[in-house]
Amino acid sequence: MSGPAVEIAAQVVRWQAGHGRNHLPWQNTRDAYRVWLSEIMLQQTQVATVLEYYARFLQRFPTVHDLAAAPQDEVLALWSGLGYYSRARNLHRCAQIVVEQHGGAFPRTVEALAALPGIGRSTAGAIASFCFGVRAPILDANVRRVLTRVLGFGGDLAEARNERALWTLAEDLLPREDLEQAMPRYTQGLMDLGAGICLPRNPACLLCPLQGACTAQRRGNPQDYPVRTRKLKRSAQAWWLLLREDGGGRLWLERRPSTGIWAGLYCPPVFMSREALDAALGADAARAQDLPAFTHVLTHRDLHLHPVLLRSGATAGMQGDWYTAPQWGALGLPAPVRKLLDGL
Ligand code: ADE
Ligand code: SF4
Repeated sequence: MSGPAVEIAAQVVRWQAGHGRNHLPWQNTRDAYRVWLSEIMLQQTQVATVLEYYARFLQRFPTVHDLAAAPQDEVLALWSGLGYYSRARNLHRCAQIVVEQHGGAFPRTVEALAALPGIGRSTAGAIASFCFGVRAPILDANVRRVLTRVLGFGGDLAEARNERALWTLAEDLLPREDLEQAMPRYTQGLMDLGAGICLPRNPACLLCPLQGACTAQRRGNPQDYPVRTRKLKRSAQAWWLLLREDGGGRLWLERRPSTGIWAGLYCPPVFMSREALDAALGADAARAQDLPAFTHVLTHRDLHLHPVLLRSGATAGMQGDWYTAPQWGALGLPAPVRKLLDGL
């Protein structure tokens, strides 16, 4: 790695020493238990709130052994008010694993740390760099913002390959010398820049040690980073499919509407609930037989499909038609429906 990257690391390290936060209670220690506890608390909670909880936790559980030995109820009670209680449950389990499987000492590699409950890649990087001087990147929301701006990284972070690319770039920027000293400062420096200088709305570029190296500052568009399209929320839907056979091997299918899921394809009649299906069948409902349900994954939703088989029965008033096997074999059928019908 040549000039610019070396300079970026050196600037962050130098700036952190003079202008960063250096007196937080979880700093100036290499005790992984203390660092880990703070990083878990800081994952979704602000520093000001964490300060009190951190002090109380350490008072009650001075070592990982104390925490591991505590009843879960007590850990949850002490966590009460910090929110995201899965963090507290993972914290407790993590302490127990560290005691039982690692002899009470946190492992020293990112991979082994990230294998513990509640520790993702970024938290593992923070612990490894703070405590062991490991050359490991972090990429929490603040650091993502700083680095995408500095690098002018315009890839959409909703896409995994862009996220991976940014991790690789973050790794390239890390200090390469004097890691024991430089890594903790560099990691803390990026956090401090993200929290106090490279703010989401009005970054204080004039105070920033990276202004000379920063692509976004040069282009005048820090606010355009990071790029993340809103991920469409996955939703789930349940459909009941009425598989009707007439005794002669014919199946009852109807054509799907021209818009929506499986638009224009042929399909057994769809009902949004078992009750709706029963209501449509009337007296025949008693003979309907449930087949194993399965999930079909669409781009933006999971479709839970509940096939219900009915041999013969009345079709008066129902949309659709009877199709022989050769006939339906030639129709446009959704793949999971074809598989289902082939298996009948
Ligand atoms: N947020 C996450 N880790 C932090 C740390 N070590 N100091 C301040 N804020 C943080
Ligand atoms: Fe952020 Fe401005 Fe510093 Fe670039 S120069 S890293 S945009 S504060």
